[in-house]
Amino acid sequence: MHVDAIPSRSVVSRVPDVADTRRRVVLLGGSFDPVHAGHLAMAHAALDQLEADEVWFIPARQAPLKSRQLTPGEHRKAMLEIALKNEPQMRVETCELEREGESFTIDTVRYLKKQYPDCDFTFLVGNDQVEQFHKWKEADALARLVKFAAVARDGRNVKTKYPIHFIHMDPVPVSSTEIRTGNRLNYVPQELLDYFYANRLYCKDFVKSRVPDRRYMHSLSVARLTEEFALAAGLDGQQAWLTGLFHDVCKAMPVDRMRPWLEAVCPEELTMHPAAWHSYVGAQVTDRVFGIHDPRISNAIFHHVKGTSDDPLAMCVFCADKLDPLRGYDSYDLIDLCRRDLKAGFEKCRASNREYVDAHRKDAVWTN
Ligand SMILES: [Fe+2]
Ligand SMILES: [Fe+2]
Repeated sequence: MHVDAIPSRSVVSRVPDVADTRRRVVLLGGSFDPVHAGHLAMAHAALDQLEADEVWFIPARQAPLKSRQLTPGEHRKAMLEIALKNEPQMRVETCELEREGESFTIDTVRYLKKQYPDCDFTFLVGNDQVEQFHKWKEADALARLVKFAAVARDGRNVKTKYPIHFIHMDPVPVSSTEIRTGNRLNYVPQELLDYFYANRLYCKDFVKSRVPDRRYMHSLSVARLTEEFALAAGLDGQQAWLTGLFHDVCKAMPVDRMRPWLEAVCPEELTMHPAAWHSYVGAQVTDRVFGIHDPRISNAIFHHVKGTSDDPLAMCVFCADKLDPLRGYDSYDLIDLCRRDLKAGFEKCRASNREYVDAHRKDAVWTN
């Protein structure tokens, strides 16, 4: 054989042994808090370039090198199942969630090799993990126990003393950290966004990262009170909580950033005082940026400053916003009235709000 015909080492490592009939399984560990398009791209790259039969996603119970408290495992597992439901070669492996204590890869690999002797495993990691591989529990033993592959997510091959096979993947510009603060949500399927909101995952941070602390505390308080009024009136508490949480999400957005939104979606409101713009833009942003596609929520946020909708959900958030105990005045009687009779409470709130605005006509600003 001519020397040029000898395959390189990296190619040799990818050529399956024809005598080995075991299933070739790629193990992909991580927090998956939450799973996103980048994880799926890693799995597809592995299926293609490692000639694997399956990819198993292994959510960690508690990742050893991360100090942040993770979202409960049952939610991370459920979100993975949603994300993988149309991926016949991918599944969730829950052995780390079921095992007490920190999730060490060496324990997982020993367990899986024993449990599935018919599988030939390769453990897949990202570049960032290659750099700190030496910190992993029993790193040397682990590198001998199972094959490792790494995805050069940022396009670079990291130098390492370990026998790690690098595969290529076109960068997917998203991270779980970004998603947890409500950025790049277009990399999350709608069904997963719906799961976030139904289970109140991450969404408080979506608001917290966009408004000052005091406004965030007000948003949480309004969410609680809106939910309380809604439940007392026989309405959907979850829908009400979300409305209250997001009602001021655009309160801190500069006017020059709100103006293009208004021009695009409701130019007729440009004549209103800019202090009210956050309600109109907030309704749009909640729908189009955060993916809460609920016309009643949008309507309630749109009208929350002036109380101009008599939809019961809009009444709840209008009253909760005006009566928020954190505003510092005694609103107990009106809160009690709203609990007992939403319509009567709404009329009183609206009347007293009008009085306030009339009394301050000189600089009549709708600031709620
Ligand atoms: Fe507001
Ligand atoms: Fe508010």
